[in-house]
Amino acid sequence: MSGLDPVAGTALLTAALRDRESRRPDRLFDDPLAGLLAGEAGRAQAEAFGEQPAIAVRTRYFDERLARITGAGDGPRQLVLPAAGMDTRAHRLPFPAGSTCYEADRPELLELKNSLLAQAPAATCRRVTVPADLAADWPAALAAAGFSPEEPTCWLVEGLTQYLQEPDVLRLFDRIAELSAPGSHLLTDFVSASLLADPASRPMLDGMAARGAAWHYGTDDPRPLLTERGWEVELTDFAEFGRSLGRWPDEPRPGGHLVHAFR
Ligand SMILES: C[S@@+](CC[C@H](N)C(=O)[O-])C[C@H]1O[C@@H](n2cnc3c(N)ncnc32)[C@H](O)[C@@H]1O
Repeated sequence: MSGLDPVAGTALLTAALRDRESRRPDRLFDDPLAGLLAGEAGRAQAEAFGEQPAIAVRTRYFDERLARITGAGDGPRQLVLPAAGMDTRAHRLPFPAGSTCYEADRPELLELKNSLLAQAPAATCRRVTVPADLAADWPAALAAAGFSPEEPTCWLVEGLTQYLQEPDVLRLFDRIAELSAPGSHLLTDFVSASLLADPASRPMLDGMAARGAAWHYGTDDPRPLLTERGWEVELTDFAEFGRSLGRWPDEPRPGGHLVHAFR
C-alpha cells in the first residue's frame, strides 16, 4: 500500500489511468512518468476501476488548453496546480522559458512524488512543490513558495472538486479569484449533479465511498460559480469532447463539464 490517505491515494489511480492511456497505439497523450508515479498501489486501483475514458479525455483537454494559454506570447508564466497529485505536466509539456509551476498537495503525497521523481529527467520549467492542506491557509504557503498575485496565473484544478463539500468548493474558488491578476486563466472540471443522482452511477460512487474517497460535489451548471467571481467562462461538455475524440460511449449518460475561465 502507498500509506497515503484514501483521497490522496486517488492521485495514484489517475496516474495509473494516464499510464494505461499512454500505452495505447491511439493514445490521446503520452505521460511517460505516470507508471513510475502510480506504482503497484495505483495499478491495483485502476484494475478495480475498469475501463473508463474520463481521465484520458480530461487530460487531453487540459493539455490542449495549457498549450494554447502558455504558448501565447503574452501568456502567464506562473502556473499553479492545487491538488496536483501525480501530475507530470511540469516534465512533459514544453513550457516557455521562465515559467514556474507550483504544485500544491498534501505533504505526504508530495514527499512520495519527489522521492520517485529523483529518478526522472529534469522538469521543462521551474517546478516548486507547495505542501499544504487545501482546506487550510494554502495561499500563505503558496506566497511563501514565491507565488506573486500581481502577475497573471494559469490555474489548473483537475479532479478535485468532486471530493470536496460545497462550502470548501466555494472557498477554493473565492481564494483563487482573489489571487488572480488580470490576464489569468482557470482550467477546471466538474462532475454533474445529475451524475451523482443517477442510479447507474451508484456502483462507482459506492466503490469510491467504500475506499474512503466519496464524491460529494457536483453541478449541472458551473457557470454562475465562476462568473460571480469575475471570470468569463467557456464550458465544454465532457461527453461531447469525449465523442469528438472517439472515446465516449454513445448512450446518453450524465457526465460533467471541462472549464476554461479567463479574465
Ligand atoms: C483525484 S486526485 C487528482 C490529482 C491530479 N490533479 C490528477 O488529476 O491526477 C485528487 C487530489 O486532491 C488532493 N487533495 C484532496 N483534498 C486535499 C486537501 N484538503 N489538501 C491538499 N490536497 C488535497 C489529493 O491529495 C489528490 O492528490
